[in-house]
Amino acid sequence: MKLLTVIGARPQFIKAATVSRALAAHHPDSREILVHTGQHYDANMSDVFFDELDIPRPDHHLGVGGGSHGQNTGRMLEKLDALIVQEKPDWVLVYGDTDSTLAGALAAAKLHVPVAHVEAGLRSFNRRMPEEINRVLTDHVADLLFAPTKVAQRNLQKEGVADSKIHVVGDVMYDAALYYKPLARKPAWFDALRLGEFALCTIHRAENTDDPDRMRGILAGLAKSPLPVVLPLHPRTRKQLAQFHLGLPDTVCAVDPVGYLEMVWLESHCRLVVTDSGGVQKEAYFHGKPCVTLRDETEWVELVEVGANVLVGTDRERIVAGMSQVDLAGFEANELYGHGDSVQRILELLFV
Ligand code: UD1
Ligand code: UDP
Repeated sequence: MKLLTVIGARPQFIKAATVSRALAAHHPDSREILVHTGQHYDANMSDVFFDELDIPRPDHHLGVGGGSHGQNTGRMLEKLDALIVQEKPDWVLVYGDTDSTLAGALAAAKLHVPVAHVEAGLRSFNRRMPEEINRVLTDHVADLLFAPTKVAQRNLQKEGVADSKIHVVGDVMYDAALYYKPLARKPAWFDALRLGEFALCTIHRAENTDDPDRMRGILAGLAKSPLPVVLPLHPRTRKQLAQFHLGLPDTVCAVDPVGYLEMVWLESHCRLVVTDSGGVQKEAYFHGKPCVTLRDETEWVELVEVGANVLVGTDRERIVAGMSQVDLAGFEANELYGHGDSVQRILELLFV
């Protein structure tokens, strides 16, 4: 069995690390060709994950990144098309909802190579998000759809995807959280900040970073935060803040993006999480922390239903109220995202 895995953005390195490790351990006769599209390219957005999560060096690096969605997807598509012809894989494996996901799925489907999609069926129902377009299109060309939840399964069924292709397997990010939690590492700079209790924040979603009014709302909310805020700053956000001449309030300690092991430490030790990230919303829950989500909707609706997550958009008052309320709310942690055996189930289905 020869698998060609396409990754390119930060959350995909983390998801793929967990799958690739199990693949090498349990299916030593299989061969995984790892393709890095280059979508994320800074050392702290890419190399750090390969180093600390022991991901094998990519077999191919496409060097595509930094362009518009159309440029990125188009350039990746052309290069992946040639690679798939050259490598002749039995399956192409894609993760999540980035431009790399769509390029991998589309290139494979056009060459009649079966596509397996990890994290299938997520929907925000907001077609203005580039991720929503990537998800819908990827799901509709995929042959094997690994849905993390029953909600995701139902989304696919409603869109007419054949039941036989959909498998609810839980979330590989939960497997990753369980595996890496004991390896979590305190960032070297943390003690010098002398923070005491803190909120952990990430912001990078295009609908926020590309809209100065939304960014102003977020910054105004963070300025009134009841806790100091640690903000590992995504390069996209750093650039957009500079472009809009927006400064960070005194309540915020901005740091460079951190590696996953440091991120897990921060998530485990903060009082609450404030984010517009998909992955970080779930990780807050995995580590028992309430989450204030800086979006108008979420794909991870079950987190809101159990009271672990409150959607506040980008309105200053709602952000401050959310940060004060969720702290008191508390929620029942349970196994919304499977039992930590998602990777095992994915491999069983791929290797039938
Ligand atoms: C992408 C994904 C998003 C995912 C996020 C994870 C798409 C459409 N979006 O968003 O779903 O949640 O990754 O973090 O695929 N940049 C750098 N250095 C880097 C990476 C990015 O400077 O290493 C800057 C560049 O200016 C780049 C911009 O960030 O143009 C946006 O990068 P891009 O990968 O297109 O989108 P993200 O916002 O990172
Ligand atoms: N993450 C990280 N360092 C950071 C910020 C996030 O390792 O500085 C991890 C985070 O723990 C999660 C993943 O990156 O596993 C989420 O990626 P991101 O928020 O960029 O994308 P999304 O999940 O929204 O697609």
